[in-house]
Amino acid sequence: MREEVAFRLNGHDVAVEVDVHRTLLDVLRDVLGEMGTKEGCGEGECGACTVLVDDAAVVSCLYPVCEADGTSVTTVEGLFEPGGELSPVQTAYLEFGGTQCGFCTPGMIMASVALLAENPDPSEEEIRYALTGNLCRCTGYVQIVESVRAAAELMMERPA
Ligand code: FES
Ligand code: FES
Repeated sequence: MREEVAFRLNGHDVAVEVDVHRTLLDVLRDVLGEMGTKEGCGEGECGACTVLVDDAAVVSCLYPVCEADGTSVTTVEGLFEPGGELSPVQTAYLEFGGTQCGFCTPGMIMASVALLAENPDPSEEEIRYALTGNLCRCTGYVQIVESVRAAAELMMERPA
């Protein structure tokens, strides 16, 4: 069964007619061409596909696209600053070695953005807990935790 699903994607309205059984991840990548969101396990285990739906982090490989109707969806492509610069979280991941092969990075970054929106000054333990659902084969997580801490500092230093 096909239905029209309409939502805001990275600040722009989109509407697509899709099979209601498709996932948000499928539609983002295959229909809307937003390739920044990665598919790892496809089973909700790795977090590579994490995006924000109404500012909450969700694993888009398990998220039925019809549930996105009327919501605001943010992917890693939507994080750039108005002038096109990298966001503080992206900058910190780059500068503190939070990304190596990069496959987990979009999902890690989106989970980090959700954490910092809720808790602007998280401890190492809180960062590790918030990123429990995001797996990385490369970094050993130390640089990722440092990147999130650095992003928190950058964001707190910003003028209000
Ligand atoms: S691809 Fe969605 S959790 Fe792994
Ligand atoms: S940087 Fe390679 S999986 Fe995380």
